[in-house]
Amino acid sequence: MAENSHEKTLAALGVTQSEQVAPLFLQLLTQASADLQAAHSADAFEKFRVNWLGRKSGVLTLVGDNWLKPASPELKRAVGQELNKFKSQLEAQMEARRAAIESGAEETVSAKDRVDLSLPGVVRPIGSRHLIRQVFQEIEDIFVSIGFSVVEGPEIETPYYNFEALNIPEFHPVRDDMDTFYVEAHLGATTESGAKTPPGSLLLRTHTSPVQIRTMEKQKPPVRVIVPGKVYRRDNPDATHSFMFHQIEGLAVDTDITFCDFTGTIEYFVKQYFGPSVKTRFRPSYFPFTEPSVEFDVSCIFCGGSGIAANGVTCGKCKGSQWIELFGAGMVDPAVYGFVNYDAKKLSGFAFGMGMDRLAMLKYGIDDIQAFFQNDVRFLKQFP
Ligand code: FA5
Repeated sequence: MAENSHEKTLAALGVTQSEQVAPLFLQLLTQASADLQAAHSADAFEKFRVNWLGRKSGVLTLVGDNWLKPASPELKRAVGQELNKFKSQLEAQMEARRAAIESGAEETVSAKDRVDLSLPGVVRPIGSRHLIRQVFQEIEDIFVSIGFSVVEGPEIETPYYNFEALNIPEFHPVRDDMDTFYVEAHLGATTESGAKTPPGSLLLRTHTSPVQIRTMEKQKPPVRVIVPGKVYRRDNPDATHSFMFHQIEGLAVDTDITFCDFTGTIEYFVKQYFGPSVKTRFRPSYFPFTEPSVEFDVSCIFCGGSGIAANGVTCGKCKGSQWIELFGAGMVDPAVYGFVNYDAKKLSGFAFGMGMDRLAMLKYGIDDIQAFFQNDVRFLKQFP
């Protein structure tokens, strides 16, 4: 307040006539109005209330104590009247201010919540399936259309499923080609037989072939399955190698499956996948779990099987050989049936294991396998 007049008595303020009382209250009301207008929040309003109406030391209490009580009988009547007028004017002003603050606060809240439908929307780009996923789907569709079903298996395997049951005993040289990552088994992990696994006795599977064993253990013949999934090897990364890649395993076992069924199925798949003009060939190979074993090649997709690139030089993809190696396969080795209690005398079948990433690279002209795993949107966008 201008001069804190309410802290002094009327005598000290030099007020001796009743006409001097009204201007004094007017001055007080002007100050109160200014303080009130400066209160913009509920907190500030409450401070104002305590300051002016507080019982102990509010301005009104002091006005009563300093002006009214000690006033001379001549002045008391005028002070009492002006004080009542002042109180009711102040109350009216406070009520209006309280309403203004409350509605102001409401307005702020509703402005926050209000949705402006005229604003442009947020465009969230929709991604697409990774090319590897798309190729998985493409290959699955081809095999499903000729009676295969899709099964999956664990990526963390026991050496038994990954090697032994596939006729790859410990110290077999083939294990060198499939070195992998060994896993410290967590406390409480158990082997197939329920025993506790010692540390390092689990591994990241090196191929999808263990799912052949898992499937035959669960299912009586006939079996016709494909197994898509991730596999791992301790291979150094380059344009055609990754330490994690994808395979699709195939397995068909029945009482009368021949090598002709095998070649017919594979050729059907390849022509569906690459188109009818590709040529195919088998080369003898070796896998401990197939006998005979083969490598399956297609005529080079890049040079049309001529060995010469469009610019007249030797094709860099097939290195002039006219063929590109696609995958390993063969007739299931009878020794494998022994691990799953199948009757090797009555049953026969074929199996294959395709490198998915390389199949995708060949079909879509990708010359570096690492592009699949770098998550570069400029690459991914090319395969919507
Ligand atoms: C196997 O993994 C056998 N399990 C395949 C098989 C299954 C044979 C059933 C017979 C019967 P191989 O090690 O050749 O075979 O691997 C199969 C394919 O995986 C290869 O032809 C290749 O396309 C792909 N591949 C192998 N290593 C890598 C790697 N580091 N990065 C990317 N692809 C790879």
